[in-house]
Amino acid sequence: MGKFYVTTPIYYPSDNLHIGHAYTTVVADALARYHRLLGNEVYFLTGTDEHGQKIQRRAEAAGKTPQVFVDEIVDNIKALWKLLKISNDDFIRTTEPRHSEKVQRIFQRLYDQGDIYKSEYEGLYCTPCEAFWLERQLVEGKCPDCGREVEKVREESYFFRLSKYADRLMAHIEANPDFIQPVSRKNEMINNFLRPGLEDLCVSRTTFSWGIPVPFDQKHVIYVWLDALTNYITALGYPDDVGEDSLFARFWPANLHLVGKEIVRFHTIIWPIILMALDLPLPDQVFGHGWLVLDGGKMSKSKGNVIDPAVLVEKYGLDAIRYYLLREVAFGADGVYSEEALVLRINTDLANDLGNLLHRSLSMVEKFAGGIVPAPGAYGPLEEALIAEAKLTLEAVQKHMDKLEVSDALAAIFALVGRANKYIDEAAPWSLNKQGNRERLGTVLYTMVEVIRLGAVLLTPFLVETPAQIFAQLGLDTDPTAQGLEAAGKWGQYPAGTKVRKGDPLFPRIDWETEAETVKEKPAPEQPQKEAAPPAAEQEQITIDEFAKIQLRVAKVLAAEKIEGADKLLRLQVRLGSEERQIVAGIARYYQPEELVGKEIVIVANLKPAKLRGVLSQGMILAAGDGDNLALVVPEKTVGDGAEVR
Ligand code: MSP
Repeated sequence: MGKFYVTTPIYYPSDNLHIGHAYTTVVADALARYHRLLGNEVYFLTGTDEHGQKIQRRAEAAGKTPQVFVDEIVDNIKALWKLLKISNDDFIRTTEPRHSEKVQRIFQRLYDQGDIYKSEYEGLYCTPCEAFWLERQLVEGKCPDCGREVEKVREESYFFRLSKYADRLMAHIEANPDFIQPVSRKNEMINNFLRPGLEDLCVSRTTFSWGIPVPFDQKHVIYVWLDALTNYITALGYPDDVGEDSLFARFWPANLHLVGKEIVRFHTIIWPIILMALDLPLPDQVFGHGWLVLDGGKMSKSKGNVIDPAVLVEKYGLDAIRYYLLREVAFGADGVYSEEALVLRINTDLANDLGNLLHRSLSMVEKFAGGIVPAPGAYGPLEEALIAEAKLTLEAVQKHMDKLEVSDALAAIFALVGRANKYIDEAAPWSLNKQGNRERLGTVLYTMVEVIRLGAVLLTPFLVETPAQIFAQLGLDTDPTAQGLEAAGKWGQYPAGTKVRKGDPLFPRIDWETEAETVKEKPAPEQPQKEAAPPAAEQEQITIDEFAKIQLRVAKVLAAEKIEGADKLLRLQVRLGSEERQIVAGIARYYQPEELVGKEIVIVANLKPAKLRGVLSQGMILAAGDGDNLALVVPEKTVGDGAEVR
């Protein structure tokens, strides 16, 4: 087994984090979980980059000391990672002495060996990016990274001899094609920065004080990027604790630094040169991913368009958000965030494909086998094909994850989910049941359950709640992934004879039409114009069997109330015989809640549950008319709740 050390950038606690920051961290988390599942020894580091002029100014504006200011935001960041179930092994803050003292020692060493020297700096500085620029690098006089104004600075500074190591770095990049990925970012670094020649880097500032003091010259603070980049080794104990069993000895060099595209330069030029000067090995790979942007461009606090991941988790659930982040955009490329696309992902992949696969399979195990999964008999061609597909999926997931193609790995798993749904349609267990073909029925039911188990195993690096829910519904009391991917990924591990425990649908469908009203930033998608209903004869006709699929039943309204913030909706509590349900109905304009209590109404009882305005609805009531004239469909005399309507 190997080791896997993965890092995220350390985030500026200048504001609460948004969905773009969550994106990097969730991807790092999925990779860490994947490597743990492979049996690798994993170290996953994240943290906060707390010094620098930007933070000092933000704190001043907020009337707080920088330390108080960052402490508050760091608490929020930690709470966010907890909410997203990020499995980091450490969280480093650059204001902690365990970091700052080590940075001072690193700075001292570089100075002592002549790689840092004192001179005067005169040049340009972008405070939001905490980056120095040369006149020729500006784009239309502005910062080439963020497009904002740069400031002229002139001060006595210490400099780091980047230029001395430029050739060595170029040789390393050329000899290690995977060092900078994706390739486009590598080319950009070579063409835009290395070929034109590296200037020595200013690594101290004197015009503000919020930083780590230069140990031998206290009026200087260490440049925030030198301070920040070294977190990847100080968190492991370097330079003090580098003995045989130290974290540093076990995990350095990092396998992977995940960074956004705008900070690739710091990680592939400045950072490797610091490491070379310290005589340390370089990380295996720096991967520069793209940005999540909004339709209108970049997310920014000043535009007021940042998306808070915590709000989304509250609304749609953690795994839905994690799935969307990991699946929607090819890792590396920029992607447009939209809540509508998120809802679509939930409805199609999670509710329709995955949720439905589990629900229908377990319903059939209950209906045709008393809830106990039979042992399989001989596999036929349909099973052989599905088992082969499952094996290929496992290989595809590994291949994609090794190349950080996280979205492709998920696509492969969901292709298997789709295949499994198709398998059920083809194997038609309901017909086998009718024919009394028990042996074949047993094989099919087992196959259905086993492919779900396998799918859930494969999903564990990505989704953090759903796999456990699936295992529980499958009746498994021990977590199959505890044995690692190789064992858990083998076909046939599900113990036949287990009693399943069918539960609620994993992902109720979300009604985007209603949900869109709650998304203030975005108008609801345009609805197709309602056309007048064509004459009955021209409408598509259905067979009696098709009609029989719709289960209409009488329900008694036990309670009714308005839903806050949704003027059209009422929440009804209804009873169908021994069962109680909640139904959300768009009838608030026509009925007062109290008029409904005690009424017998008719509902569609086997409609997939859906969420309306975040409220679960387990059925649909029947009503006639429209416009101002809407009436509930009710039995003409009392028949008792639970009665079937035929
Ligand atoms: N503090 C530095 C990193 C130091 S690492 C030694 C920094 N911090 S940051 O908070 O501004 O950004 C952290 C990361 O979040 C960057 O990788 C950045 O690309 C990423 N993102 C910020 N907004 C983003 C999106 N909208 N989309 C995707 N990633 C985004 O830079």
